[in-house]
Amino acid sequence: MRRIEIAPSVLPVDFSHLADAITALDAAGVDRIQWDVMDGQFVPNLTFGPGVIASARPHTELPFEAHLMVLTPDVMAREYVDAGCSRLIVHVEACTHLHRTLANIASLGATAAVALNPSTPADAVAHVLDLVDMVLVMTVNPGFGGQAYIPTMEAKVRQVRAMIEAAGLGDRVDVEVDGGIGPATIAGAAGAGANILVAGSALFKDPLGLAHAVDELRALAVAAAGPAAAG
Ligand code: DX5
Repeated sequence: MRRIEIAPSVLPVDFSHLADAITALDAAGVDRIQWDVMDGQFVPNLTFGPGVIASARPHTELPFEAHLMVLTPDVMAREYVDAGCSRLIVHVEACTHLHRTLANIASLGATAAVALNPSTPADAVAHVLDLVDMVLVMTVNPGFGGQAYIPTMEAKVRQVRAMIEAAGLGDRVDVEVDGGIGPATIAGAAGAGANILVAGSALFKDPLGLAHAVDELRALAVAAAGPAAAG
């Protein structure tokens, strides 16, 4: 079992104080930062580009991953790597030439990951597992924070984890979930085989603060995944 990681989605932060928010997330003990890049085309929402991510880079050593909810991820892949992202996540639904897109990301010196919308079957990534270091199973329809978790995605998480193990890649390919992750849902996702858990509203709305939220989510995930996941 891969080590459990808690990754914040930055969508809920106050962008007028982005540096402080990144420093606070780092101090709260998160394992990486996920940047939700939306182009208003692939999803009905518009967020930010590489410039905003680059402005946050000097404020933490934590790894950055860009979740590219965009129609044309190839166009600006280099800019996200130059902004300090060590992993680029592209959606299988946006990539006509997914194999080429993933290989291109590796040629830029970053690691590549592939994301699946809720309606997309796990088999869509069966032939590119050797090109990625992570598969992201969306547990909401992408585009907004604060949506309800889709529990039927746990079957797909199990399937993706089994595909990775069957391909002999279990020691190097992570399974991530994103959307509606919180104290009431994280155990189901981690128990199904997800080891990286992205959370937005659940982290920022905890009345006891960020550090309490991170610790609680990590404890629930490790308990569901088993001691090996404690890392
Ligand atoms: C949705 C994003 C998610 C979202 C998570 O498209 O990819 O990262 O911001 O937010 P919560 O945890 O509030 O569902």
